[in-house]
Amino acid sequence: MASRTDDIAVAQRVLDHIARGTTDAGAEVWREPVANYLSGDRYSAEIALLRRTAVPFCPSAALPGKGSYLAREAAGVPILAVRGADGKVRAFRNACRHRGAQVAQGEGCAKSFVCPYHAWTYELDGRLRHVPHEDGFPGLDKGAHGLVPVSVQERLGVIFINQDGSESTTDPIPALLAPGREIIGYRETELEANWKIFLESFIEGYHIRYTHPESFYPYGFDNLNVIDLYGRSGRITYPFRRIRKLEQVEPAKRRVQGLLTYVYHVFPNALVTILSRHTNLVVLEPLAPGRTRQHSWTVANDAGEEALAEAKRDQAFVGSTGALEDRAVVESIQRGLKANANQAFTFGRYEPLIAHFHRTLDAALAASPRTARRSGSVPRDRIRGS
Ligand code: FES
Ligand SMILES: [Fe+2]
Repeated sequence: MASRTDDIAVAQRVLDHIARGTTDAGAEVWREPVANYLSGDRYSAEIALLRRTAVPFCPSAALPGKGSYLAREAAGVPILAVRGADGKVRAFRNACRHRGAQVAQGEGCAKSFVCPYHAWTYELDGRLRHVPHEDGFPGLDKGAHGLVPVSVQERLGVIFINQDGSESTTDPIPALLAPGREIIGYRETELEANWKIFLESFIEGYHIRYTHPESFYPYGFDNLNVIDLYGRSGRITYPFRRIRKLEQVEPAKRRVQGLLTYVYHVFPNALVTILSRHTNLVVLEPLAPGRTRQHSWTVANDAGEEALAEAKRDQAFVGSTGALEDRAVVESIQRGLKANANQAFTFGRYEPLIAHFHRTLDAALAASPRTARRSGSVPRDRIRGS
């Protein structure tokens, strides 16, 4: 949830745009080489980046109590996250230290992890507790055979993991998931498209009128957005037409609930979409240059039975209409890459968060010792009213 001051400022920027017929825009046009969506080398460099960056793994609410765990692949690596007896979340490479079987699948609640193969047993903090017929392993140092940890940070209602890197800082995003809310839905979907093409569909409002003529556009605007940058991450705000009623309300008394949708892009591969009654954490897991798995968790914005029912109803609407429209376009772009018509895609001044994403992604890839890419700085002042 954004703060009240932030809400009020954003509402004012939206009303100003409505009055002037303008929108936030970037300073320049970005040309992204099409090869970057197709190349196996580029894909490998992006996977390496995902592994050395603190990236969202799941909502905190997916690990509600002691012993709650969630296992899934992140950047192609099986990872297990668990809330320990001390309430702290830890994460491990999900592979037994005997012969590598995965010690947990899916999600659940456990007192310890018992490997399904020969029952080596690990504590929630990863320590190896028990080895059946231990005398068969003379000299085994149990202390050196715990599950292999990866770095974890719990922040803003999200569990971030960093598999390979020591860097644990995350971007200075003001808010993501409200604490203490229940997960009301989880979905896993696979798309036949590069993860960046899918990501791009979330972070510009230039397509709303044309891609979503009957779902979102009747409630929204054509090309009217507010953009904010937080380091490598950013936020795009989609206002509803009914926000106009705030023109009559004194700024300090304006309430934006139901009048704005915030979409946070959490660099590089996650999104938090805050709608009127529910919030989604979406993580895009690249599976191949042309295939992506989307993990999407939904939490209700408010507590109570009525709020939960309303949130579920809204989620069903957004998920069944707008999301399918985006998916159709995204997969059509991927198929269209074969047309070989474009050397580069052109992102205009009304798609500035996408330009910011590609610029920062290029810079992050260039920072890798193993990847020689052109470098780029991350200017903070490129987005402005237009
Ligand atoms: S592989 Fe896990 S106990 Fe053997
Ligand atoms: Fe869309």
